[in-house]
Amino acid sequence: MPIVTTKEMFKKAYEGGYAIGAFNVNNMETIQGLITAASELHAPIILQASAIARVYAGNTYLRKLAEAAAHDHPEIPIALHLDHGADFEVCRQFVEEGYTSVMIDASSRPFEENIEETAKVVEYAHAHGVVVEAELGSLAGIEDEVASENSSYTKPEQVEEFVSKTGCDSLAIAIGTSHGAFKFKPGTKPQLRFDILEEVAKRLPGFPIVLHGASSVPQEFVKMVNEYGGNVPGAMGVPEEQLRRAASMAVCKINIDSDIRLAMTGEIRKHLAEHPENFDYRKYLGVARDAVTDMVKHKMIDVLGCDGKA
Ligand code: G3H
Ligand code: 13P
Ligand code: ZN
Repeated sequence: MPIVTTKEMFKKAYEGGYAIGAFNVNNMETIQGLITAASELHAPIILQASAIARVYAGNTYLRKLAEAAAHDHPEIPIALHLDHGADFEVCRQFVEEGYTSVMIDASSRPFEENIEETAKVVEYAHAHGVVVEAELGSLAGIEDEVASENSSYTKPEQVEEFVSKTGCDSLAIAIGTSHGAFKFKPGTKPQLRFDILEEVAKRLPGFPIVLHGASSVPQEFVKMVNEYGGNVPGAMGVPEEQLRRAASMAVCKINIDSDIRLAMTGEIRKHLAEHPENFDYRKYLGVARDAVTDMVKHKMIDVLGCDGKA
């Protein structure tokens, strides 16, 4: 199957009460680990790359790696998505390079400007058969101590006007998630704002909603990183039950990056500590690749609910 858009995936996910996992990719091992999980579970998957990923790996390598995944696994739908496109020009480049989906993230700009930039991207992308994710509301960044202190939740009363004026295909909203591995303070009780999600869904019936900053930060990997020389004390993510609940509602795409980074880093640190004689990078990158597969299989079955949905 060629690389597809998210249109059909989201329609089925909305109706079926599950979500598609969107995983950030930067190299071959991560893509292989992810695709093995999707293939073994017969699950649809979104591979997404940021502008920084493109600088790191080079656009041709990233695209060709995604194409290799699609070539080797025609049995599963794979979408290739630009994560957090900063403006029209970045989105235009990714559309030209063959991505099937782009995100225009103009959420930090005033409402009217966000509409204007998003509508411009939609017009261009749709003319090229590419779908567009936009964002309303802002997530707290990794630098913020507590997500809710510095983020501004999506205002449900703005979503109809935004979607109708821009023509975007999916909408990322802020309901208390945040990027990075330190989403909540230890000792606090994370709670997503399901009331906002419900209100958004009521106002946009059948419309796919996206959750960014949705890593659950598995404590086994936090422990592993810290035990083998790393230093990420107090890393904490979104409880998996809350992500599962969101996936059963209007959320059709759940973004995961930090969990992959933690799993790979933990396993590599552990492997090198236990095998100080090893300098064959295939061994420790291979261990990291397997860790991605195992963790993502768990997510697909227990959190996203997308297993068997390809
Ligand atoms: O939300 C952003 C993702 O975690 C990607 O991170 O820009 O370092 O590739 P990156
Ligand atoms: P996490 O940092 O929670 O993995 O979020 C990733 C993300 O939203 C990428 O756009
Ligand atoms: Zn994000």
